[in-house]
Amino acid sequence: MTRVPLIAGNWKMNGLAADGVALAAGVAARLKSAPDLKAEVLVCPPFTLIAAVAAAVGGSGLAVGGQDCHAKVSGAHTGDISPAMLKDAGASYVILGHSERRTDHGETDAGVKAKAEAAHAAGLKAIVCIGETLAQRDAGQTLEVNRSQLRGSLPAGADAGNTVIAYEPVWAIGTGRVATPEQAQEVHAAIRAELALLVGAGQAEGMRILYGGSMKPDNAAQLIALPDVDGGLIGGASLKVDDFWAVAKSCG
Ligand code: PGA
Repeated sequence: MTRVPLIAGNWKMNGLAADGVALAAGVAARLKSAPDLKAEVLVCPPFTLIAAVAAAVGGSGLAVGGQDCHAKVSGAHTGDISPAMLKDAGASYVILGHSERRTDHGETDAGVKAKAEAAHAAGLKAIVCIGETLAQRDAGQTLEVNRSQLRGSLPAGADAGNTVIAYEPVWAIGTGRVATPEQAQEVHAAIRAELALLVGAGQAEGMRILYGGSMKPDNAAQLIALPDVDGGLIGGASLKVDDFWAVAKSCG
């Protein structure tokens, strides 16, 4: 099965109306002028900008996503956003279980799984994030930690069309310290092998596994070229049109 790489920008808590819409419009303009790009491109702005960004990039092929959602359809959950609300605002993807949410908001594997199932029910594709800490890597636990997070976080009914996995070593996020190609490939291959047990070999072969953690124009090409790396989840470098586009272009 051919996997089309996904280049996903995670803006995190960055962007006000003027600069956020301009950033997305800049990416959309590049995308429109590059019909042969061998990647799907996605931006995930903060909730407040999703509708404006979706309106600004409509028709360009640039996809829009959220950075989190609630597991419930609606109700008494002050401050939360449901998957249907994201969809309604123009999103087609949602990032779930990012390590910053696991740390800042105590998100668990079971909670991420519930959110991903709710996202699917609303018609959103889920990007499920997993990754080890530096202490876990140093203790030789990298593969088992990632397998365990995957088993716990993967939604029921996950398939190559509705789910993307993002491997983001916590020690590489926002640190400038990127995984080596050997480190990335080792974990990605282990994730795909575990996926084969969970969703079957065919779906595992088609499911995209993104690398995230200090991916930038100068390291993206060699990571994306790895056999089991199918694109990137990009934080810092997604906030500048030129950098984000250079990462996307490294898919060929
Ligand atoms: P970074 O963030 O590219 O700034 O390291 C990646 C992420 O957290 O998704």
